[in-house]
Amino acid sequence: TTRIVLDCDTGTDDAVAIMLAALHPDLDLLAVSTVNGNVALPNTTENTLRVLDHIGAAVPVHAGAARPFVRPDFPIPRDVLNAGNPDFQVAHLDLPPSVTPVQDSSAVRMLVDTFSDPANADVVLVVTGPLTNVALALIAEPRLASRIHSLVLMGGAARVSGNVTATAEFNLWVDPEAARTVFSAGLREIVVVPLDATHSASMTLADCDAFDALGTTAGSTAAAMLRHRIRQDQTPDSHKSQASAPLHDPLCIAYLLRPEVVTSSGRHPVSVETTGEQTLGQLVVDTRPWTPEPANATVAFAASAPVFREVLLEAFAPGPAR
Ligand code: BDR
Ligand code: CA
Repeated sequence: TTRIVLDCDTGTDDAVAIMLAALHPDLDLLAVSTVNGNVALPNTTENTLRVLDHIGAAVPVHAGAARPFVRPDFPIPRDVLNAGNPDFQVAHLDLPPSVTPVQDSSAVRMLVDTFSDPANADVVLVVTGPLTNVALALIAEPRLASRIHSLVLMGGAARVSGNVTATAEFNLWVDPEAARTVFSAGLREIVVVPLDATHSASMTLADCDAFDALGTTAGSTAAAMLRHRIRQDQTPDSHKSQASAPLHDPLCIAYLLRPEVVTSSGRHPVSVETTGEQTLGQLVVDTRPWTPEPANATVAFAASAPVFREVLLEAFAPGPAR
C-alpha cells in the first residue's frame, strides 16, 4: 500500500484524483489539503469536502493558501480566464453541500507535521494544483526537503503548448514563484506530470460509458465529470479524431499505482520561468546531455491511455467500502 497526502484545487479533474486516491485498495489517503486555483479557496475546500462526503470517505481536509506565494492574486481576472478557457470549473461541483467540517489546522501545519514525523518517511506528496502550500511549508520548515519521500505533481507544458498562455500551464502559471521555490528546494525526488503526458492519455465518451457501467457512485460521478469536460473541449477547430478530454490530475495518482503509465526520459534540471514577459510560468526542462545544471526532477513526456483507464476502472469498481 502506498500512503499519500494530496494537495489540490478541486476542480473537475481534481475530484477524480481524490476519488481515485480515496478508493483504490492499494492506496491509503492520509489527508487532503486545498489551495487557491481552479476556483477561490473557500470553493476548492467545499468542493473537496463534497467529493469525499459523496463517496463516503472519511479523510481529513485542511484548507491552505487563499492567494499565491508572492503575487497578490491571479495575474488576470478569474472570469476572463474562465471565459477564455473552458477547462476550468467556476462553480461548486454539482454535489450536495458538505456535512463533514474542514480541519482546524491549516494545510501548511498539516504538511509540516506529517512530513516531520519519522513514521511518515514513506509518504508520497501529490500536488494537483498551484504549488503555494508546498512552497510555504518548505519555507516554514526547510528540513521537509529531505523528509518528503517524493513529490509527484501535475503541472507545466514541456514540449507542447501551454493551456493558459502559449507556454504556460495553469498550475505553474497561477503561482510561478511557489513552483520555482519547490523545484529549487533540494527535494529528494520530484516527478512532473505535465500536459505532454495528460494530453497523450485523453479519455473518451466510451470511457464515460465504461465508468457508468460499473454501477458505483464514483464511476458515475467520474463519467459525469468527464462528459462535461468532453463537451467543453468541442472547439470548432479541434482536429481530434474522436471526442475526448484529458483527465490531468488523476494521472499523478495512477503513476503511484502503475509507474509504467507514463514514459519519461529520466532526470533533468527543471525550473519555472518567473520573469518572462511572454513566458511567465513556463516549465523549463533542460534536456541537454551536456547540461552543467544538476538534475532535480523526472518529467513524464507521454502516458498510456489503456493503463490509465485500467487503473480508474479498478478504483471505481464495486468493492468493500473502506
Ligand atoms: C491543471 O489545471 C487545472 O485546471 C486542472 O485541475 C489541472 O490541475 C491542468 O492544467
Ligand atoms: Ca487541479
